[in-house]
Order: sequence, then C-alpha cells, then structure tokens
Amino acid sequence: MQDNIVIQAPAVAQKRTTREWQQADAAHFLHPFTDFGALAKKGSRIITQADNIYLQDSEGHRILDAMSGLWCVNVGYGQQALVDAATRQMKQLPFYNAFFQTATPPAIELAELLAQVTPPQFQHVFFTGSGSEGNDTVVRMVRRYWDVLGQPERQVIISRKNGYHGSTMAGASLGGMSGMHAQGGLPIPNIVHIDQPYWYQNGQGMSREEFGKVAASWLEAKILEVGPEKVAAFIGEPVQGAGGVIVPPETYWPEIQRICDKYNILLVSDEVICGFGRTGRWFGCETMGTKPDLMTIAKGITSGYIPLGGVMVGNRVAKVLIEQGGEFEHGFTYSGHPVAAAVAVANIKLIQQLGLVERVHNDTGPYLAEQFASLREHPLVGETQTCGLMGAVMLVKDKAKAQPFDGDLGVGMLCRGHCFGNGLIMRAVGDRMIIAPPLVMTRAQIDEMMALIRRCLDLTLADVRAKGWM
Ligand SMILES: Cc1ncc(COP(=O)(O)O)c(C=O)c1O
Repeated sequence: MQDNIVIQAPAVAQKRTTREWQQADAAHFLHPFTDFGALAKKGSRIITQADNIYLQDSEGHRILDAMSGLWCVNVGYGQQALVDAATRQMKQLPFYNAFFQTATPPAIELAELLAQVTPPQFQHVFFTGSGSEGNDTVVRMVRRYWDVLGQPERQVIISRKNGYHGSTMAGASLGGMSGMHAQGGLPIPNIVHIDQPYWYQNGQGMSREEFGKVAASWLEAKILEVGPEKVAAFIGEPVQGAGGVIVPPETYWPEIQRICDKYNILLVSDEVICGFGRTGRWFGCETMGTKPDLMTIAKGITSGYIPLGGVMVGNRVAKVLIEQGGEFEHGFTYSGHPVAAAVAVANIKLIQQLGLVERVHNDTGPYLAEQFASLREHPLVGETQTCGLMGAVMLVKDKAKAQPFDGDLGVGMLCRGHCFGNGLIMRAVGDRMIIAPPLVMTRAQIDEMMALIRRCLDLTLADVRAKGWM
C-alpha cells in the first residue's frame, strides 16, 4: 500500500491582498536582474493568472502581454494540451534521469521530433534545463570537439557586444553585456567580442547592405587578430533579442557564414528567442540563411510552461563526438526531464496543428511589419524594426539627425511606465521599446496592441515635451 499523503492545494492567490504578497515577496524573494533594495521599497506587481495573450494581476487588471512572458509563451497561456501532457507524465513517471544509460519515452520522442522540425543537419540533441545551461554546454562541446580532432589550441569563442546568451558564468561571458561582465570577474578566459550589427546606431552614412558587410568583416578581423588556428567558434543570436530586437542587415549573416566556412570555424546559432516560430520560420537561422553547426534552444520549446533547454548538435560535430569522443563529461540532473519533454512534445505538436509558424510568416508577421512601419510618423520614433513577431521602436530626440536622448534621462523607462499603466507589457532596452508577443496573436489583437502603443507613445511625448527634453 502506498504511503501518499493527500494535501489539499490551497488557492493561494485568493488568500492574500496585494500588499501582503508584496511584503512577503520583499522579505524573502531576491528577483533576477533586479535592484533588491529598490524593489523591496516599491513592491512587485503580482501576476496571478493568464489566458491567451492576457495576464491578470492581483488587483484584477487585464494586461496585454506583448513580451510572451520572457520571450517564451509562443502558444499563449491556458493551452490545455500542455497541461494534460504534464499531468499524464507526472502521474506515470515524474522523473528519471538519463545518466545511467537509461532514457524515458518522452525524452526520446522529443529528440526525434526535434530532428524533424530543425534543419536537416541536426539529428541529435543534448538536453539542459535552460538556455544558459545550453550555452555552457556549447562552450564545453565546441572545445571538446576540437580536442578530439587533435586541435586543443582551438579554444577561443567569438561573440558580440550587446549579445545575450544567458546568466551562468559561460553564458554571461559569451554575452556582451558590460554590466554583467563587471560583476563576478567575467568573461571567463578565451571568449572575445566584436561589435554588433546595429545599423541605426553605428552605420549612419552607409546603406544597410554596406553596413552589414562591414559589421561581418569585424569577425574576420578578430579571427586574424586571435589567429585562425586558435578560434573554435562564433556564436550569435539571429536577431539580438535582449539587446533590443536588433535585426541585422540582410547582408550580415550570409557574410558571417562565408567567413566561418573560410576559416573552418564552427557557427553557433543561439535560437533561445528566435526558435520555434518567432521569426516566421521554425528557426532564426532559416530566416537569416545560415547553416549552423550547433543551435542553442530553450524558451519556446515548451512555450515556457516548464523549464527546458538544449543544444542541437549538427552532424559535423555529432559524428566526431560519437565516433571518436569517448565519454563527454557533462550533464545535468534534469537533462531530458520526462515531464518537461512531454510538455515540449505537446507544445511542438500544437505549434504544428495551429500552423503558427506559417501564420507568422504569411499573415501576422507582415501585418505587424506594416503597423510598426506606420509608427515612424510619430515625432518620438526614429526607427522601427520587426522580424516575424518581434519588433522594436527606437525613441529619439531628433529623428532627422537620428539623435538619441541622453541615456540618463530614462525616456524608455518613462514609456514603459505608461505601458504598464495602460495594460500593456512592452519592454524598454535603453530607449528601444520592444515586443515579442505570443504567436497565437491575431490581427485584431495586433490592432488592439498598436492602439495601446500609440497611446503610450503620445503620453511619453507629452512628458518629454513638458520636461523640456525635446
Ligand atoms: C538568446 C538567449 N540565449 C540564452 C538565454 C538564456 O536562457 P535562460 O534564461 O533560459 O537561461 C536567453 C534568455 O533570455 C536568450 O535570450
């Protein structure tokens, strides 16, 4: 007879006031990427439930979530198929590991499904618990690959300033966020950075196409500076997400591919944001026209319903590791977690059934692009960019001169405050206002979001004028 104790799950969200939640939060919960002291004084916003593309907070406000949580809820909130998959798997086998020469059916099924939806060079996956762990795995795997091939001096990984690859020691080192490097003694050795392909900020005076080639040439210059025989890989996000939804010129990625091929360097596409339909193709590398050797995946793989990440390992690397590598001394307790894998399988099948990738590619993506382009008439807007269902609006002081505001003024944060106040989650990266809404978003919901964005831009403009900043 089993000894299970039945605990009645309390409906916690109904039991405390917002104030009480905030006090308990401030007393015990240290939030990621947060000034702990400042938040404890201000109090968190408490999100209690969600459906489709809308959140609800503890005060009963309805909020349009134009960030898909944190770039992850691709199928939207409240999808019963994912809940059912988790429940079934939790009942049948809540956990077993993949260390002891064992595997569970959901993890195997997911590996097989990933081999189908990813580009053809990918037939193998290494599972992790998150995108950061995925990028740590990338660092160890590419260095191991070159070791096995008898080229252990190939250690250096090149990435980009203002790229984001997670928050573990290796992830944050690959990332090019100076604030992150300043805390904890980063980057770790043998990770170097080149400038980002941010045309609006750095390419004025050149066409986008010209600038794309120039920005790619910085990779070649860095390879020559380091010594090609020492370079293991280049890693980048197809579209920089956390850096501000920076969509590179069309000439950039093909040139990067050419340079990696020329020097026999592995190309790694960090698809943690761009994967699973975000750019209007299954993976961002397909939108950008590259053929990476490795891809980091996470977020949209489960639509964020449960943590899961991984690395898709292309045939070039897999063959060497499988045939010559011996034991790869790396892995996580939750590599291939059966519940997470079951949810991912349900999520990927739902993306397929709903035709979300095609919908973004043919319908909602182009519609969002049109709508965002129309924002350029607004006095505050210097540039807009979209790629699939992600977009950025750059707020500037003088559009004719592409002149930004003084960063210390915090115009982006001002705008973000208006968004929150008007029931819209839009993120500010400096003065770049960004979105990445759930892929289930309809045209009517895009219209609803655009009306909110316009209202918030108008409110921000009024503030900026009143303060004499423009
Ligand atoms: C491109 C990219 N890579 C890696 C990560 C890290 O993923 P995680 O937060 O799951 O560790 C992120 C997170 O936002 C990301 O945007």
